[in-house]
Amino acid sequence: MKKRGMGGAVQLEGRVAMVTGGGSGIGRASALMLAREGADIVVCDISPEAGQRVVAEVEALGRGAVGFPTDSSDRLQVQELTKAGAERFGKIDILLNNAGIGAYSTIRDLTDEIWDRIVAVHLRSMFLCSQAVVEHMIPQGWGRIVNIISRAAFRGRAGTGPYAAAKGGMLAYSRVLAAETAPWGITVNNVAPGTTLTPMTIGGFPSEQARDQEARSSGVITQPVRLAEADEMAGAVLYLCGPYSAHVTGTTLHVNGGSYMP
Ligand SMILES: NC(=O)c1ccc[n+]([C@@H]2O[C@H](COP(=O)([O-])OP(=O)(O)OC[C@H]3O[C@@H](n4cnc5c(N)ncnc54)[C@H](O)[C@@H]3O)[C@@H](O)[C@H]2O)c1
Repeated sequence: MKKRGMGGAVQLEGRVAMVTGGGSGIGRASALMLAREGADIVVCDISPEAGQRVVAEVEALGRGAVGFPTDSSDRLQVQELTKAGAERFGKIDILLNNAGIGAYSTIRDLTDEIWDRIVAVHLRSMFLCSQAVVEHMIPQGWGRIVNIISRAAFRGRAGTGPYAAAKGGMLAYSRVLAAETAPWGITVNNVAPGTTLTPMTIGGFPSEQARDQEARSSGVITQPVRLAEADEMAGAVLYLCGPYSAHVTGTTLHVNGGSYMP
């Protein structure tokens, strides 16, 4: 079986990937890694500045990029961006459901608004974006959907209620989607990061000492004990979109320094 990426070539030549939350952190690192591996990128980010910066960064790598401010939890906005991406590149092969926001609320201070927004940005976005791109994957009989979930979906850490529930929902839905889309040559998998240094988390761990403390207390055992880098999540995403994972679907790749072993 001839595979793209064999013999030293890039792994995603000719592919088109839509990356939600592509303007920052894990999404940005993934967009740039997929672009370096040959993919053109549709950047879906609610932040105009962040999205445009990554469009420019992808173009500087010599790949095509399209993107305008898009809320991944809004059906019409997702449809518009998907249409623009498909018109520009002729197709969409890969979707990375990565857009996310953090929140800390325990049961006594959690509000309807916080609950609904967190669940919408993670879980409804996954539904809407997957539904939009699947229509482009079905005719070609090939597609890759990767979801960034979280170690939080597996651990009961106080204060993570709606976030952990939404990520757990994504995990459950990914298995259903994997079963529903397998006949069309589509795989659906998850990457579950442990704490990763990105703009989302860096404010919580502003010093070397705070980062070290978080790595140790969360149970990282890989050496040296440290927090993960966004590129380490991007590498897992690349594997799940690339030529060596065609037999992998409905599963979760945990990238957490051994801090949680399912
Ligand atoms: N950083 C971590 O420690 C960590 C750990 C586990 C899981 N995750 C998950 O990884 C994903 C990426 O997180 P990150 O750390 O890179 O965060 P980040 O804040 O650096 O990036 C998130 C991006 O998503 C965008 N975004 C937010 N809401 C959006 C929306 N409605 N529509 C489109 N774009 C939107 C933001 O503008 C931002 O560019 C998230 O789903 C997060 O839950 C992160």
